[in-house]
Amino acid sequence: MTNKEIFTRLYKVIFPYRVKLLIAMLAMICVAGFTGAQAYLVKDLLDKIFMEKDTFFLKLLPIIVIAIFFLKGVAYYIYTILLEKVGQSVIRDFRLQIFNHIHTQSLSFFNKMPTGTLMSRIISDVALLQQAVSNALVGIVRDFFQVVVLLGVVFYMNWRLAMISFIVLPVAAYPIVKFGRLFRKLSTSTQEEVANVSNILHETITGNRIVKAFTKEEYEGRRFSGQVTRLFVLTMKDAKYRCMQHPLMEFIGGVAIALIIWFGGNEVIGGTATPGTFFAFLTALIAAYEPVKGVTRINSTIQQGLAAATRVYAILDIEPEISDKNDAAVLPPFSTSIEFKNLTYRYDDETAVLSNINLTVPSGEVLAIVGPSGGGKTTLTNLVPRFLELKEGSILIDGTDIKDVTLASLRSQIAMVTQQTILFNDTVRNNIAYGDQQAPLQAIHDAARAAHAFDFIQALPDGFDTIIGEGGARLSGGQGQRISIARAILKNAPILILDEATSALDTESEREVQKALENLMKDRTTFVIAHRLSTIKNASRIIVVKDGEIVEQGTHETLIAKKGEYELLYNMQYN
Ligand SMILES: Nc1ncnc2c1ncn2[C@@H]1O[C@H](COP(=O)(O)OP(=O)(O)O)[C@@H](O)[C@H]1O
Ligand SMILES: [Mg+2]
Repeated sequence: MTNKEIFTRLYKVIFPYRVKLLIAMLAMICVAGFTGAQAYLVKDLLDKIFMEKDTFFLKLLPIIVIAIFFLKGVAYYIYTILLEKVGQSVIRDFRLQIFNHIHTQSLSFFNKMPTGTLMSRIISDVALLQQAVSNALVGIVRDFFQVVVLLGVVFYMNWRLAMISFIVLPVAAYPIVKFGRLFRKLSTSTQEEVANVSNILHETITGNRIVKAFTKEEYEGRRFSGQVTRLFVLTMKDAKYRCMQHPLMEFIGGVAIALIIWFGGNEVIGGTATPGTFFAFLTALIAAYEPVKGVTRINSTIQQGLAAATRVYAILDIEPEISDKNDAAVLPPFSTSIEFKNLTYRYDDETAVLSNINLTVPSGEVLAIVGPSGGGKTTLTNLVPRFLELKEGSILIDGTDIKDVTLASLRSQIAMVTQQTILFNDTVRNNIAYGDQQAPLQAIHDAARAAHAFDFIQALPDGFDTIIGEGGARLSGGQGQRISIARAILKNAPILILDEATSALDTESEREVQKALENLMKDRTTFVIAHRLSTIKNASRIIVVKDGEIVEQGTHETLIAKKGEYELLYNMQYN
């Protein structure tokens, strides 16, 4: 992405805040003007009061000084607070935009993009971007005005001396440009390392039980130490240039002052300039040099911001793989059948994990899907709610291709319970009501009862208002599973997908969960993937999926009689 493209896009981002920015800039121009006036007053102070001993002016000058400092302070406050507001608003807008954008993405996006990377984009890159927008871009405008006003004062007082600034400014510009390039390059690598830091953090914190179980604390400590050290080295490289900038700019400034003392001193001694002019001139030039020095700092912020913008836009530019067609219809309530037609699926266009699946599931059927792990069962069921995009073949619901209907209307008709219970760090009540926050308490209780979860929920410290911890950490596996079943029951969708919903449970809680599932399957069309074959004996049909193909189908009895794959699986479990 070129700088121009980035600026064009950022311009659109700040456009809604243009009025505030305009007021901020006017206030800034006032600040620049007052700074110029301050420098100019040094001339009157020296010439009128010290040299001419003007007593009237002695009374007037302190009042003018107070007035100027006061007004400058007010203008300063107005512009800084407005910039802060615009900057923080930009941060808020960007974070929201990225958040909403990543939630439009399909499963494959999340499979590829590490959580920590996404988090560092939203948190730290956006902050860098804000620095660039509010501090730096606007800071440049302020500094520009300040330099113009002060140089105006300088030239007005003594244009010959002022020519010195034309020697100094280009010399000072060289390191500004040179360092700017370095900062941008470093910022990109630094932010990549920041993302890696958050990835390790996220993995080890959420996976802390495994870290403990394998006593990998030291190993993870070393891995993290390696990562933060890489970040340290990069940051220090950046710091080296940053710390070099200031003294370098000071030195260049010092050379300029030396030149002015030499030439200006000659003029004062020769009588062509007053001491007042000389000091005012020096004050103004030193004041004018301040923002020039600041430009190096601002430039590094801008370079970092541009690099951050590139990364943020890289994410925002990922088109969601799956989205509603322009003319997507609303899927009417499910009534007759779900059809898989010549369906082949590949992850990342590699070898097919499902090939040429043809299957019709009539409404009301309980279809069990069994087979060795890695066979493609989960992939098959993830295709129904369009979590993954189908490129070969199609899935039809009541004869309508699921690609022709809105995602919302499709997904509202599907409830899912997966092996990995996904619960939020919220109350039991809100977890059950996740699909319908308006659900009356009675409905939530009924769902909990049907899920065989009511009794244990009542026994929790705060009952339905108990916060269950991240991912349901304060519940047992079976309890969490039953809450996610209650959530599916409350959703009351006609199509149900159960992906190994009981495989992680002990026999006792499995029996409870099994009863809960039977309640859930009543009057629904169900896909049930089961690890334990005992749980699916009553299915109306069983299909065996192996290496991406349906190798057998029938009822439990017919498949046992057939003495094929199913019987093999069954015997492995029960003999
Ligand atoms: N996100 C993914 N990217 C690439 N390959 C995947 C992904 N998820 C699953 N697979 C592969 O697809 C195959 C089928 O996986 P899956 O549908 O999860 O099997 P099952 O549920 O039957 O155990 C496996 O070989 C697996 O390695
Ligand atoms: Mg699976």
